[in-house]
Amino acid sequence: MNASPAIQELKARLAQATAVTVLTGAGISADSGVPTFRGADGLWKDHRPEELASPEAFARNPTLVWEWYNWRRGLIATKQPNPAHTALVELEHTVNDFWLITQNVDGLHPLAGSQRLSEIHGNIWKVRCTQCERITVNRDMPIAILPECSTCAGLLRPHIVWFGESLDPEDLQKSFDALRKCEVLLIIGTSGMVYPAASFGPIAKENGAFVAEVNLDPTPNSDLVDVAIQGHAKDLVPQLVS
Ligand code: OAD
Repeated sequence: MNASPAIQELKARLAQATAVTVLTGAGISADSGVPTFRGADGLWKDHRPEELASPEAFARNPTLVWEWYNWRRGLIATKQPNPAHTALVELEHTVNDFWLITQNVDGLHPLAGSQRLSEIHGNIWKVRCTQCERITVNRDMPIAILPECSTCAGLLRPHIVWFGESLDPEDLQKSFDALRKCEVLLIIGTSGMVYPAASFGPIAKENGAFVAEVNLDPTPNSDLVDVAIQGHAKDLVPQLVS
């Protein structure tokens, strides 16, 4: 099959660029079988984010929140990185100045081998103490409800950025640096509905980057970007970096 002119142009830009930033969302892991959040089969169709993914929800009913995260951890534990995750590892190895910003908490990028990345919404395999704030990796399956900190016995919470919470300032700084200096920004599988990630495309564009989107469907970003390519991430991303 011949690649479309848009794919060819983006491929050439990626091959020439010395600074590339990639922003990913749930769509890249959809091809691994991890549910997305919005859309017909999305997690937010049957669940209200404010009841499960907010500090208020956790304060009100930590057991319910932990049960939901236990369910998601169990599901994600059965999933593997797909060719799109792997292709981004390849890109990281070939581009001098590369940074991956992911909104995904599933840990599939690091599992694939990505190293230069910010998981700006946290990681479902990390927990944080609500008292001493210590962050640790926890792969217990299932995790004890309610889990306690081994240092201070405080209640542990998922190390996830919930609705109404701020991103880690260091992650935000690294992301802005990468957006300002990249020659190409590749946005993969995000609906562009959640800030600040929704502003990353416009920021890179204002700073002179060539901005491209790979998504199954058009998004609010599609009109702003230089190239919008529709299709499955697992098919398109390997073509772009091969
Ligand atoms: P969404 O569920 O909002 O959007 C997923 C996007 O992926 C949609 O635009 C789909 O069209 C696209 N998509 C689905 N399957 C795809 C495929 N196989 N290939 C390419 N694209 C595909 O997910 P996000 O934009 O990541 O927050 O959502 C942002 C944040 O909202 C998440 O990080 C999460 C959620 O609340 C937290 O967990 C803190």
